[in-house]
Amino acid sequence: MNTRDKVAVVTGGGQGIGKATAKTLIENGYTVVIAEVDKEAGKDTARQFSSRGLVRFAHTDVADEDSVNSMIRDTVREFKRIDLLVNNAAISARRPLASLSLKEWDRVIGVNLTGTFLCTKHAAPHLKRTEGSIINIASTRALMSEPDTEAYSASKGGVSALTHSLALSLGPQIRVNCISPGWIDTSGWNKKRTVKKGGLSVEDHSQHPCGRVGKPEDMSSLILYLASPSATFITGAHFVVDGGMTRKMIYV
Ligand SMILES: NC(=O)c1ccc[n+]([C@@H]2O[C@H](COP(=O)([O-])OP(=O)(O)OC[C@H]3O[C@@H](n4cnc5c(N)ncnc54)[C@H](O)[C@@H]3O)[C@@H](O)[C@H]2O)c1
Repeated sequence: MNTRDKVAVVTGGGQGIGKATAKTLIENGYTVVIAEVDKEAGKDTARQFSSRGLVRFAHTDVADEDSVNSMIRDTVREFKRIDLLVNNAAISARRPLASLSLKEWDRVIGVNLTGTFLCTKHAAPHLKRTEGSIINIASTRALMSEPDTEAYSASKGGVSALTHSLALSLGPQIRVNCISPGWIDTSGWNKKRTVKKGGLSVEDHSQHPCGRVGKPEDMSSLILYLASPSATFITGAHFVVDGGMTRKMIYV
């Protein structure tokens, strides 16, 4: 079987890294379901890529089990199979601990960590049949921090740990891996331009041991590889894709 017959679900595929991942997968023959909470972004992305291959938008809140269940059920009803799940959807809440409400904490954990659990739980029976794979997107913030990022960092640490736990529970049929991006500039891939005014500075790039800020394609190419038959000895692994930043000592 080649990728022409394969079906991938990409959560948060309407914008940013998820959108670039959808594009790479479609260009490599996958049918892609964009499971996205933002209707405008999901519809626009599906429309934009429709001439390149088979792509569907499924309005989904990954933190809501009924919504996830329907998205997986509809995917299998239409395409008969699932070969790849990319758990990419995430949100953050940067706020000092004293003013971080329980509701905000719960929503960040709910989307980033519980969403990964729910999508995996409902997709797993279908991935088992195809001997498919799961790729969870964590963050280098699972490994290091700036102040006031407790909910996001904890959620991504959870995604990293959930990955090795799932790799043992779902193997050998399903491989489960995790990628932690560093700074990835998604400004050309988002509905709203989020890049800071003036774009990226020389220093933004030069501080990276690789000499540049990351691009969404740095992520999507690794996702494509990890899902491929070339990677069948890789499971439970955590890949850091950050241009070397987490290897750099910064003592003043
Ligand atoms: N861009 C970076 O520098 C960077 C760094 C580290 C980690 N990451 C991780 O990479 C992944 C993608 O990041 P990005 O920068 O492309 O983010 P983004 O905000 O550009 O895109 C995330 C997408 O997820 C969707 N989404 C949010 N909540 C959802 C929900 N409940 N259900 C379904 N979809 C939902 C959003 O609508 C959006 O389209 C995330 O997991 C993020 O934590 C990104």
